[in-house]
Amino acid sequence: MEKITMKINGREIETVAGRTILEVVREHKLDDIPTLCHSDELEPFGSCFVCVVEVKGRPNLVPSCATRVAAGMEVETRNERIVASRKTAFELLMSNHYADCVSPCMEGCPAGVDAQGYIALSAMGEYRRAVDLIRESNPLPAVCGRVCVRKCEVVCRRQDVDSPVGINAVKRFVTDSPGAYDGVPECAPPTGKSVGIVGAGPAGLTAAWFLGRKGHKAVLYEAKARSGGMIRYGIPEYRRLYLQNGRGDKLQR
Ligand code: FES
Repeated sequence: MEKITMKINGREIETVAGRTILEVVREHKLDDIPTLCHSDELEPFGSCFVCVVEVKGRPNLVPSCATRVAAGMEVETRNERIVASRKTAFELLMSNHYADCVSPCMEGCPAGVDAQGYIALSAMGEYRRAVDLIRESNPLPAVCGRVCVRKCEVVCRRQDVDSPVGINAVKRFVTDSPGAYDGVPECAPPTGKSVGIVGAGPAGLTAAWFLGRKGHKAVLYEAKARSGGMIRYGIPEYRRLYLQNGRGDKLQR
């Protein structure tokens, strides 16, 4: 390998030709260049432009992960122009992303409720739409807003900063808002089929809801005088008292 001498941030560096600027900078611990699309295991692709640096004599900034060093090259890894360009590249990448494509809270929710979506709607004051969105996955959100074990909050990334977003409290708030249940949900035209469901507890009610949305007629059979099952008869008193007194338990990962 041909030995070469070059300058990075004013410091003379001896290295070998063919390596990338990023590799040399990292090897010599000259700076902490941010990267997004780069992976040590893959051929450099140079698509995100978050790793750009300045090379003397070149009018444009170049991606350090995909630019090979050469003898006499002079590189600067950090200045106002570089930082502004990295910021712009990152902003462009994120411009049509509100967050992760599938948020951790949605993945963490056993019912797959789009927590990210209903929080965004409730932040816009669209409480009824927030409830509609929750009911796309869970037709019993009001009770869930009271007794849910909040697996969404356990994986909430915000707790890496301070504490998780109070997702369940938002759900409870929107489901308690006036008019939250106004309107009739969209249903497919009647199919002429009917389904008998034994038990009008949460599972039976949920099945009936989704069957109805698909245009089937659901007939619930319940032994007790009223429907609801566990959500009517099974929630213990202490749980309700706990809920009245606020949250306060510590979340465990
Ligand atoms: S890390 Fe994406 S272009 Fe270099």
